[in-house]
Amino acid sequence: MLILGISGSPRPEKVSGTYRLVRRVLEATGLNYELVSLRKKHIGGCIACLGCAKDNVCKVEDDLAALREKIVTADAYVIGAPNYYSGLNALTHAFLERWFQFRHQEGNLLWGKLAVAVGVGGTQGHFPADDLERFLAYNFIETVAKVSAQGAASCYTCGYGDTCKVGIPYLLGGQEGQKFTEETIPDVEKDPACLQAAEEAGRLLAKRLTQGHDRNAVTARMQQAMMAKFSESA
Ligand SMILES: Cc1cc2nc3c(=O)[nH]c(=O)nc-3n(C[C@H](O)[C@H](O)[C@H](O)COP(=O)(O)O)c2cc1C
Repeated sequence: MLILGISGSPRPEKVSGTYRLVRRVLEATGLNYELVSLRKKHIGGCIACLGCAKDNVCKVEDDLAALREKIVTADAYVIGAPNYYSGLNALTHAFLERWFQFRHQEGNLLWGKLAVAVGVGGTQGHFPADDLERFLAYNFIETVAKVSAQGAASCYTCGYGDTCKVGIPYLLGGQEGQKFTEETIPDVEKDPACLQAAEEAGRLLAKRLTQGHDRNAVTARMQQAMMAKFSESA
């Protein structure tokens, strides 16, 4: 049993709330895991060349190629992304677009697997967490839990955050001249509710994986859900 963790933040692992929260969820599973950071990886979006249609293998040559085998062999995923403009950041979006390679013919390599989605934002992270769930559903992967948190927006450390009118501190508090200290800058690891949600998500994922996980049953449910969604938007 191996869970693949993915952090889609471009920020250094030490400061990234996404990376650290994904790691918390993985640790809480008590199962084997590998955590991959997309930071510094060069991964472009899907170019719709259809080179993958015949064999479910993407032909674009970039850093996604080396991750393909890990994605295929993992039993489950914990994927986290920062909130950029109320949605997934581009790096995570590009990474997941390339999962189009698994969506051809009977390419059931990922069908029925389980996942936890983690979103972190300067205000909150539910937008990227919801986006992750939506992406994963296209490969019939069930998101068993979503963890959403407030992280440390760069505005707290950019040097202008105390006066900037478009920055998160001002937009959140409406106050000019705020002074930030280590204690007052938000951080996922200082937020007990967020840490508890991460623990619970990890434990739930482990329980679902180890207590009779039936990929065929999950696949059937996810397929029905997608058909219902498609019929609504048709
Ligand atoms: C280009 C950019 C756009 C952002 N847009 C938003 C946003 O719309 N809403 C929000 O809450 N935070 C936004 N943020 C703040 C990040 O989500 C926040 O810093 C988060 O903690 C980053 O996670 P990380 O520490 O894992 O990189 C944005 C940050 C950047 C760099």
